[in-house]
Amino acid sequence: MKALMTLFLGGLMLAGGTAVPVLAGDPEAGRKIANMCRTCHGIDGYATIPIAPHIGGEPVEYLESQLMAFKTGQRQHEMMSVVTAGLTAQQISDVAAWYAAHEARATLPEGVLAANAPQACVSCHGADGISLLLDAPNLAGETNIYIDTQLKAYKRGKRQHDIMSDVAAGLSDEEIRAIADWYAAVGLEILPPPE
Ligand code: HEC
Ligand code: HEC
Repeated sequence: MKALMTLFLGGLMLAGGTAVPVLAGDPEAGRKIANMCRTCHGIDGYATIPIAPHIGGEPVEYLESQLMAFKTGQRQHEMMSVVTAGLTAQQISDVAAWYAAHEARATLPEGVLAANAPQACVSCHGADGISLLLDAPNLAGETNIYIDTQLKAYKRGKRQHDIMSDVAAGLSDEEIRAIADWYAAVGLEILPPPE
């Protein structure tokens, strides 16, 4: 809810203070914008570099809120801050709609039981790393470098979020590594939207 409010207010500010509602994203328009993202995230949202996350099939709310957070400076990253500075709120909705239109499918490695998943995380991120909430990301198949970096960013206050800052504060670096390894080992397949 807070993320949605931020997004909505962000849209209003970008529109120069005029009361223009943020329009729902158009995946086809977003596909063209995704050409700017493909060198790192792939056209389908399966990342091509270890420091970038897989974003295909993530909840549209989550994708939009993160892109707006990079744009407004609430979340910072040398690459993403530059990328989002050049996008309007409408383009952000469109490209989020394109990536969200994909389907993420996760498979636990052979012989690995869901019951052994990190218990502190499963209620929101699932045992296989497919998010159960609209405002939470999938963790399935993300590299352990990416998961490790984000958890340490929450822990050290570089990235902030009501729930995740508390969750990460309670984890040791060893626990972070073990959890990152669990989700990184999950097989991820990203299927394109139906024609
Ligand atoms: C030069 C490489 C690069 C390009 C181009 C790029 N990204 Fe990223 N993106 C990254 C990296 C690296 C991160 C991880 C940032 C961090 O560590 O906080 C990221 C993070 C993200 C996230 C946050 C996902 C999450 O799970 O929290 C979203 C959403 C995203 N990018 C979308 C896009 C979109 C949409 C585009 C194109 C308009 C794009 N990116 C272009 C490298 C890139
Ligand atoms: C009550 C729900 C909840 C629980 C429990 C939870 N998370 Fe999260 N998690 C979220 C939400 C919501 C976000 C998005 C935060 C944001 O907007 O920055 C998130 C974001 C993350 C991210 C950032 C991923 C990305 O793509 O950038 C990581 C990594 C993460 N969580 C790992 C964990 C781990 C590991 C645990 C267990 C120790 C855990 N979470 C427990 C809700 C939860």
